[in-house]
Amino acid sequence: MIFPLRQTVSEKSLACSNIMSATLKSLRALSDPTRLRIVALLERDELSVAELQEITRLGQSRISTHLGLLADCAMVKSRRDGKRTFYKLNPQADSVASEFIQLAIRGAKELAEHGHDQINLKRVLTRRKEQAQVYFNQVAGRFDRVYGPGRSWQAFGHLLLRILPPLVVADLGAGEGLLSELLARRCKKVIAVDNSEKIVEFGAAKAKKNGLKNLEFRQGDLQNPPIEPNSVDLVILSQALHHAEVPAAALRTAYKILKPGGQLLLLDLLKHNFEKAHELYGDRWLGFAEGDLHRWLEEAGFKKIEISIVATEEQPPHFQTILAGGEK
Ligand SMILES: C[S@@+](CC[C@H](N)C(=O)[O-])C[C@H]1O[C@@H](n2cnc3c(N)ncnc32)[C@H](O)[C@@H]1O
Repeated sequence: MIFPLRQTVSEKSLACSNIMSATLKSLRALSDPTRLRIVALLERDELSVAELQEITRLGQSRISTHLGLLADCAMVKSRRDGKRTFYKLNPQADSVASEFIQLAIRGAKELAEHGHDQINLKRVLTRRKEQAQVYFNQVAGRFDRVYGPGRSWQAFGHLLLRILPPLVVADLGAGEGLLSELLARRCKKVIAVDNSEKIVEFGAAKAKKNGLKNLEFRQGDLQNPPIEPNSVDLVILSQALHHAEVPAAALRTAYKILKPGGQLLLLDLLKHNFEKAHELYGDRWLGFAEGDLHRWLEEAGFKKIEISIVATEEQPPHFQTILAGGEK
């Protein structure tokens, strides 16, 4: 049987002395005008020790001692940011601590230093805001080309994928599945077709390792992929069409495997003269003219055809990437 716990007399007096000590601590904290100034400065925003030093013109150790005392009676809280520590008024302060905070702010307003403190505080906060703006003003106009922590096409890709409905996709000439894997994280099913036995083996093993059960690798030719007619919502040909023996035939097959209303999206190179691509990358075609692509898509039966150049490489031979799309 469990008996309810009873507070003994000595426990009661201990609890009481704890309340007293918290109150006394807070009263002691308010007995120093510098601590009143600090509490009042933190009313508007959090501040680092260095910023408090600059505003109050006091030494670092004095400021730290005062902050330690204020933290001790739960009136302020600290937060580390790299090498700096920021202080703010305790948002979880209980009713007693909140009352003391308000008293401190009222008291600070009656001090001779209050006016200067507020002017210095405004200057420090304005400079803080400007510092962030200075960087962006400096990089304006070339911001998209400079390094930005955490900013990558991969991250943008994941973001854009969230917009996708749960499609059935055929990725023809999929390689090891860089794009297929991304798509599989969002799509209902992805069928990745490639004619290289080794690549299919490797891609399938990687998909399994990554737990992507809806990504299926199939070995086959992109001109005659092992996919049922009228079965997919989206066909992707990413840097694959220039490997096809007869590109126009590959586009006709893409049309066949699409469901009515399905989409083809094609990324390839704009026609170029870099002959070494045959030998270096095993390319059969040196890219395509926009006019040829448009005609082949139209002849295959696609509607709403759109073709545009979406990227140009900075390094020679300055390959340009075409994005083409059409609807069945
Ligand atoms: C340049 S990679 C593109 C890979 C991938 N689509 C991407 O964008 O990262 C071309 C891929 O097409 C495959 N390929 C070449 N000819 C093909 C064909 N006739 N049928 C199917 N796949 C083919 C190659 O094995 C290679 O994996």
